[in-house]
Amino acid sequence: MKNVVLIPGDGIGPEITNSVTTILEKAGADVNWVRAKAGLTAHEELGTPLPDETIEAIEEHRIALKGPLTTPVGAGFRSVNVALRQKFNLYSNIRPAHTLPSIESPFRDVDLVLFRENTQGLYIGKEQWIEEGENKKHSEAIAVVTEEASRKIITAAFEYAKQHERKKVTLVHKANILKLTTGLFLEVGRKVAKEYPEIEFEDLIVDNMAMQMVMRPRQFDVVVTTNLFGDILSDLASGLVGGLGVTGAANIGDDAAMFEAVHGSAPDIVGKNLANPLALLFSSLMMLEHIDQKAVAENIRKAIYKTLVEKKVYCTPDIGGEGTTSTFTQAVCDNI
Ligand code: NAI
Ligand code: MG
Repeated sequence: MKNVVLIPGDGIGPEITNSVTTILEKAGADVNWVRAKAGLTAHEELGTPLPDETIEAIEEHRIALKGPLTTPVGAGFRSVNVALRQKFNLYSNIRPAHTLPSIESPFRDVDLVLFRENTQGLYIGKEQWIEEGENKKHSEAIAVVTEEASRKIITAAFEYAKQHERKKVTLVHKANILKLTTGLFLEVGRKVAKEYPEIEFEDLIVDNMAMQMVMRPRQFDVVVTTNLFGDILSDLASGLVGGLGVTGAANIGDDAAMFEAVHGSAPDIVGKNLANPLALLFSSLMMLEHIDQKAVAENIRKAIYKTLVEKKVYCTPDIGGEGTTSTFTQAVCDNI
């Protein structure tokens, strides 16, 4: 049995986590859940949003599935999500966007996977005031791009393409303006591409990419980009296939991997049996693939697609159904 740290999290976290563990058990996933706490619940019960036991459990087992965590606005603790990504150097943020049956979208047949560099760029938090005067303010932010980190994320994208028999990797940059930082990312991309002659490589400037993703999203297969562009384009990609409620995500490093839903803790629907488990469920399928239980993941995926065809009866209202968390969970189990 593979030990996996399970962090149910806050708000609807426990409801969608229960659904996911029920479905994985029904499908025969060879997983032993090691439960751990994080987020607001942990803060209230244990006085810290990220208890040492949780960090130790991830250090020991190296794989985690995490529900959404509530981050207080303004005062209060820093984002636990960001802290976990930094602590375990989870440099690849991976977000697939795949057209789903019965999920409304003006776009058809989208099937792309976006790799976002998760540790550098403009998101390192190095901002400063140059002038803080009454009438004149001046702030600056620093972006960091290293050859090593670029090589890691770009190689991860190419390795994924190779393993999943994908045909093309598109690198997204702004090297015409940010010549040193994203220029370096592009330069490393061109070098790494030479190591994978069987995979087509192209590069696109980010603004053109945004337009192309909306006008002709089917041309994209695997996409790799820096942190800020990846943040924006990964949500855009989710938007092509039905939004954040139906897309999974993984954060992967050399020594650990964390799979999570990208939506938040949805405080407005807690305890109402209305939470949609799909995003966390898709994340759990990425986890099963990561731990070499691909056949189980594939069975669950088929059961989800079958359930979505009868969306109105079984699925939750956020995707146009008249069902509940429970009816969805039961239907997927029945379809396995
Ligand atoms: P949210 O994603 O929690 O909710 C936005 C809207 O989407 C709400 O109407 C909610 O009911 C709905 N929604 C979200 N997930 C759903 C699901 N699975 N099924 C059905 N409806 C769903 O975003 P919001 O309200 O901005 O944030 C709430 C809290 O979540 C905040 O404390 C925020 O910091 C945290 N958050 C955590 C994230 C994470 O842990 N990865 C990501 C985003 C927000
Ligand atoms: Mg984002």
